[in-house]
Amino acid sequence: MLIKRRRGWELPESAATPEATYLNRRDLLKAAGLGAIAVAGGAIGAPGAFAQGPEVDPTASLYPFKQNMRYRLDRPLTPEKDATTYNNFYEFGTHKGIAPAAQALKLRPWTVRFEGMVETPMTVGFDELVKQMPMEERLYRFRCVEAWSMAVPWSGFPMKAMIEFARPLSSAKYVVMQTFMDPKVAPGQRQSWYPWPYTDGLTIEEATNELAFMATGIYGKPLPKQNGAPLRFVTPWKYGFKQVKSIVRVEFTDKRPVGYWEKLQSSEYGFWANVNPQVSHPRWSQATERVLGSDERVPTQLFNGYADFVAGLYKGLEKERLYA
Ligand code: MTE
Repeated sequence: MLIKRRRGWELPESAATPEATYLNRRDLLKAAGLGAIAVAGGAIGAPGAFAQGPEVDPTASLYPFKQNMRYRLDRPLTPEKDATTYNNFYEFGTHKGIAPAAQALKLRPWTVRFEGMVETPMTVGFDELVKQMPMEERLYRFRCVEAWSMAVPWSGFPMKAMIEFARPLSSAKYVVMQTFMDPKVAPGQRQSWYPWPYTDGLTIEEATNELAFMATGIYGKPLPKQNGAPLRFVTPWKYGFKQVKSIVRVEFTDKRPVGYWEKLQSSEYGFWANVNPQVSHPRWSQATERVLGSDERVPTQLFNGYADFVAGLYKGLEKERLYA
């Protein structure tokens, strides 16, 4: 007899619970005396932000990619408009409406540098990298530490394929990814109290887990700039702040990296950042999440519903701060 075993992410969501009050991370910055977070120069949303002229994307004609049916959703996709207009990308401002300002980012030429504990350091053009990777589409949930969530059709390739391409030494224990650094186009980077450039990392075991994904597109098209074009990473069982956008550098190391948010406030944001509804953020509950593009609030699941894939990664690490 065939017994269908339901994976965590196929479980139906139960009734919504009332919205818990929580403070967003701007309150953290205010609390730290950094209340004046309007971006210097006032470039956000300025008309000039769009005056870059069209850029040719040689990968655009490759989209859409075939969907990998192993990764299914239990909820409707987030409307594209919501996923592409409600963003976190502090390089372009600390509010959600950074999409216009992000258009100033120039995407070609774009290279990715692989270095640190690798057999041979190398710099690869983004378009060349895409040609060599096994491209596909995956539907994943996304959970921000601020307690909102999405369901997104990502295009891209498994992170494992990129790790194999980079040929790290067997002594490498972590991979660290880094965003571009260009304060001329990213006004937020002129604010020296932030630990630019934005970085974060994973253990090699996490990075080679089948769920870890390098995204180059969403909704069957190349990534919009505000979502981290041309290359970002996606780890759906972790809070979204891990998922570095607009990556230019991939470094292998044997030292545990300290990411952007951990540098900024280590009491609130740590290395592991796995989703767990039972472990509150110091300033708000993580028990439920607001579904972007709807009025719904639904219960959050352990590892964002992906425990069957990733729980094993954390065996023996119970003493670590796995859920912050
Ligand atoms: N990457 C960079 N370079 N800068 C950022 O500010 N914000 C992170 C993550 N990656 C961020 C980043 C946070 S806090 C979240 S929740 C997600 O990007 C948001 O991704 P989205 O805008 O595509 O929803």
